[in-house]
Amino acid sequence: MKDIVFDLIEAEKTRQREGLELIPSENYVSRAVLEAMGSVLTNKYSEGYPSFEGIGKWSDKKIGEEILPNYRYYGGQVNIDRVERLAISRACKLFNADHANVQPHSGANANEAVYFAWCEPGDKILAMNLGHGGHLTHGSPVTRSAKIYRFIPYGTTPDGDLDYEEMEKLALENDFKLILIGYSAFMKVPDFERVEKIRKQAEKKWGHEICLMADMAHVAGLIAGGVHPNPLDFGFNVMTTTTHKTLRGPRGGLILTRGKVGSPLKKISERTLENLPTMIDKAVFPGTQGGPLEHVIAAKAVSFGEALKPEFKDYAKKICENAKALADELKGRGFVLQGGGTENHLILIDIMKSFGIDGKMYEKALDMVGLTLNANALPGDTGGAFRPNGVRLGTPAITTRGMGVPEMKKLAEWMEKVAKICQKAKDETKLDDYKGEFDEIFAEVKALAVKFKLPTD
Ligand SMILES: Cc1ncc(COP(=O)(O)O)c(C=O)c1O
Repeated sequence: MKDIVFDLIEAEKTRQREGLELIPSENYVSRAVLEAMGSVLTNKYSEGYPSFEGIGKWSDKKIGEEILPNYRYYGGQVNIDRVERLAISRACKLFNADHANVQPHSGANANEAVYFAWCEPGDKILAMNLGHGGHLTHGSPVTRSAKIYRFIPYGTTPDGDLDYEEMEKLALENDFKLILIGYSAFMKVPDFERVEKIRKQAEKKWGHEICLMADMAHVAGLIAGGVHPNPLDFGFNVMTTTTHKTLRGPRGGLILTRGKVGSPLKKISERTLENLPTMIDKAVFPGTQGGPLEHVIAAKAVSFGEALKPEFKDYAKKICENAKALADELKGRGFVLQGGGTENHLILIDIMKSFGIDGKMYEKALDMVGLTLNANALPGDTGGAFRPNGVRLGTPAITTRGMGVPEMKKLAEWMEKVAKICQKAKDETKLDDYKGEFDEIFAEVKALAVKFKLPTD
């Protein structure tokens, strides 16, 4: 008898097909990415690393052909090595990096490995406040990293930009080992050059190297597509990312570094930024992870290959065009946007200020019409993490489906209608009383959604 799990997978396919995915950290992968992920590579143990010879220089064809000695602890790596080398090489080309570690199982693991590589317990890290748009892994007290390192947060300004003045002040008051730019709810393009200047000033004051790290989990696809600056071009030493958001690969993490590439088996001569690539390799395995997920690494390689194609540039451009069109349309309909709009794929709505309803209620009501997004705290939110006054949405997934400006207008219209029903309902527990109205909107959403196929349909 067929396992019920497969019925649930089919049900999820239908949910994805008939609704519109607006969570900015989600996307739809290609059939090729999905196939690589579901391959027999999952059967293989490959602790350690392949050779790094020719990475970023050799063609894919040469990498696919050459069999080289490796740094692995198990035999039978003849094919796996070449798959992982392709992933590393393509990642370096895509992000102009000297080295890439493609093994982190997730974005959280990637961040933890970087802290572990460069910092000692008790070291100070300057990172963005979670409540202002930072990420849990940037020092939230509920994480393991926050118990090991001392995170000091900077925030955003009232107009929604990074507070560079606060960053500079903190960097000159505190002996930081690492400065981190990264976020999951921030709509502007960071001034990487200014952050590099702050690092230089702080290094002069404290007399030691400070690692400059960017967590570009959200905008990596925009960087790969050339519509967002690359922190590695502005003096940053390391960039982490997830591979499944705008980058449109499998669920996973990636670490890109500048510096000298060496053997991950040899002892590191000096703990310098120059040696960061090897320090990070050691921190990923054996420091924080065991065997790599080679089926996922194969899917990463496929998705990096897709992102290197000219079509991906067009995709990245359209993500931003759609986000801007949606933001403008929402503003025209009375939605108050954090930061006044967007320069990337992300939109953060102050739904309390806009329609007097909270983020959780609005999230639930939109779920009832097949529009999926998430409630999200705003800077200084009084609602807390569970009942914030904001909602966060984005355009990567709907752009993958081929939607454009006309569909963004329709979307904003539905979002306004749903907000107005919420106003009438007043309370989340009363939403079911308006099921008829929600069902009418859902029918319209579904009719539009099925016209735009998923890449795996
Ligand atoms: C900025 C940022 N860093 C790290 C992560 C963590 O990624 P993962 O969920 O793959 O661990 C996320 C995910 O939301 C993120 O937005």
